[in-house]
Amino acid sequence: ELGDTGDALGLSVYAVGGFVRDLLLGMENLDMDVTVEGDGIFFAESFARTHGCRVRSHPAFSTAVIVRPDGSKVDVASTRLEYYESPGVLPTVERSSLRHDLYRRDFTINTLAFCINKDRFGLLTDYFGGQQDIQERIVRVLHNLSFVEDPTRVFRAVRFEQRLGFHIAPHTENLIRNAVRMNVLDKVGGTRLLNELILILREREPVRAVFRMAELGLLPSIHPALKQVGEAERVIHETTQVLAWFRLLYLKDHCEQWQVYFLALCDRLKQEEFVGICKRLSVPGRVVSRVFGLRNRALGVLEAMQRRLKHGPPIRNSEVYYCFQGLPLELLLYLAARTRHEEIRRFVSLYITHLRQVRCTLDGIALQQMGIKPGPELGYVMKHLLTARLDGTITTTEEERSMAMS
Ligand code: CTP
Repeated sequence: ELGDTGDALGLSVYAVGGFVRDLLLGMENLDMDVTVEGDGIFFAESFARTHGCRVRSHPAFSTAVIVRPDGSKVDVASTRLEYYESPGVLPTVERSSLRHDLYRRDFTINTLAFCINKDRFGLLTDYFGGQQDIQERIVRVLHNLSFVEDPTRVFRAVRFEQRLGFHIAPHTENLIRNAVRMNVLDKVGGTRLLNELILILREREPVRAVFRMAELGLLPSIHPALKQVGEAERVIHETTQVLAWFRLLYLKDHCEQWQVYFLALCDRLKQEEFVGICKRLSVPGRVVSRVFGLRNRALGVLEAMQRRLKHGPPIRNSEVYYCFQGLPLELLLYLAARTRHEEIRRFVSLYITHLRQVRCTLDGIALQQMGIKPGPELGYVMKHLLTARLDGTITTTEEERSMAMS
């Protein structure tokens, strides 16, 4: 369809970047990037008009996003040249050739263009040896300044290498190490850095990428405290197991995998180091204090439980419930990964799969109708009933009623 619009307007249209890479690798990729030889915005608007799509245009960059009725998106770029007139100022954009457009890209494997006009459909343009590098499974930059121009590419290199099972070419790896040595990551804003980290930690199997980042010195350049990530190795590996277990439960609750890995990555860090990393990643202050508070509480709970297991009487379900209540899933899963006690892991599991759903049949209104006054007394009765339900000392509404009255 995109090709038809190109044909109608007399414009050459190419699928480019990750979409073509994954096509050649036989992998699914629903994000389509398209480059138009000519005015991409005009193209996108024409396509949207005839196909009932919305379009968001960015004239300053000669780009547009087509949003289909089903929500899927196509990024449209115009072949263009960007001039940085002075550092820090937005680039001046001018139209140029497809070759120039592809030359600006990060790695050769992302520089293939697949023509989607009808008469040349499927014709592959390969200026920089992308096909060969895909075949040989190599991540290679196009030129020596690639990481200096855009330091976030060091993370992209690791992400592609690990996701696709490729190898970063030796020269490219040297350029990464040089860039790290030159502290180029210091100039990258926290939000961009966090985004790259999130993308890696959201990958299907992020653990090898984490250790590859550590080995290339990328983690310490986010924050010096991340140098000791090796010490968190056990917890990071356990995180994979715990997340696999959680997925098999097929619960409706959404869990942010990246957050669990992030907590694992920071496992050995002191609270102030943890806060330092969050600040470097531009996490907003109120979020930092919330996470900081919750992480503290969770670690405190873990210690208290360990002590209880050693000395105290058996831990009751209601105790597990009140310990874990209010902790987000991500923190609970992190605790399960962190603990060395099988019993505590079972408590987390029991809480997630069962205890947190437990409710009394009699709610506040029903109890008031039975004559209990609103206020602290009602609160006390409700907690008492819930505790009894959790511990299984009562199981029916009748028992709830008689307990409430006594
Ligand atoms: N790109 C780049 N430098 C960056 C980010 C992106 O050169 N820092 C280029 C790459 O050529 C990439 C294209 O822009 O192919 C689109 O970016 P993105 O959608 O992030 O990359 P994909 O290759 O599609 O990656 P993914 O499979 O993770 O979506």
